[in-house]
Amino acid sequence: MTNDKNFIFSTIPYSLYVDPDILAAENELIFERTWQIIGHENDIKNPGDFITCDVAGEPIVVVRGEDNLIRAFYNVCPHRATRLENNEAGNKKILQCSYHGWTFHLDGKLHRAPNFKDNPCFCSSDISLKTVRCEVEGSLVFVNLDPNAPSLYETYKDFFDDFSQFNFHGELRQFNERIREIKCNWKAFVDNYLECDHCPIAHPGFAATLDLSKYQIINQSNCSVQGTQIKEKQNKQSLKLDLDTAEVQEGRFYWLWPNTMITVYPGPGNISIIKMSPIDHETTKGTYQVYFKGGEPTPEQQTLLEFAEQVRIEDLELVEREQIGFRSKAFSQGILSPSEHGVLYFHNLIRESLNLEKEALPVKS
Ligand code: FES
Ligand SMILES: [Fe+2]
Repeated sequence: MTNDKNFIFSTIPYSLYVDPDILAAENELIFERTWQIIGHENDIKNPGDFITCDVAGEPIVVVRGEDNLIRAFYNVCPHRATRLENNEAGNKKILQCSYHGWTFHLDGKLHRAPNFKDNPCFCSSDISLKTVRCEVEGSLVFVNLDPNAPSLYETYKDFFDDFSQFNFHGELRQFNERIREIKCNWKAFVDNYLECDHCPIAHPGFAATLDLSKYQIINQSNCSVQGTQIKEKQNKQSLKLDLDTAEVQEGRFYWLWPNTMITVYPGPGNISIIKMSPIDHETTKGTYQVYFKGGEPTPEQQTLLEFAEQVRIEDLELVEREQIGFRSKAFSQGILSPSEHGVLYFHNLIRESLNLEKEALPVKS
């Protein structure tokens, strides 16, 4: 049905992009129940390496233990609630609260509670940081606040089965991370990523390089994959990719419900992770992480990075302009073309999660 050219479907209502109560519902019904990407396991390669982040407003710390296992905890002290680790990343042998000095082992168990040292009733073995689910697949680290959610692999089986063809994934090292504050609702960015109807108009460089007549978007279970081929010969130059190397692969643009995007560009081993996290109902934190096999880009890949950055800037301008229209009284919802079926799938998952009507209603049949 989602690909049926005999139906034209509406988008979700624009009120969902401008309403703080909707974001509160999304935090409870979407972000507290879905897998949220943290990064690559090599970001925390050594025992004691940690990363802190926020998921649905919850402070989280992800840390590699002495036993080499990666664990996630609420980044909250059990004594009196203080946020425990205050750095974004680093390496610690022990985690220490800055308030009364309680310390915790890397597996979350209490190490010392200085203000209880003379109290015989206090049993430190009962106390530890509160665990958050953390799973690793394809070298990618995710957390989920929902203890009952299906496993990471089960949730995105189609993605991980396809992604496993990139057998360099374990050798990737982060090259850079960039944070952007975007003036749009988080869903507007995802909508933009899930269709390429705008590519010929908005991304002339992209359209000149890639064969958009062969562009495909395939909806899968809780994820989708899209891509096409690089145009032959004359445009091969514009990306300056060495297509004759042994490690060449097709590019792929993956999306994982609800807010993770993973791109594998053509050329030697690389991935880019984009995560869109709501700051408020009209502001989004975009986290962009770029990884290369070996950690450093080749000159060709450096050109590719500049190309990808240009496309991103073009997209950011579009979604910020779209947010202005979401606020307008002119229209209450939009119309999806048959090739915007990736957006339709995303909107149906939003509808289902927020207990709105199950399927988009055809506006014309
Ligand atoms: S709040 Fe952390 S030690 Fe008191
Ligand atoms: Fe775009």
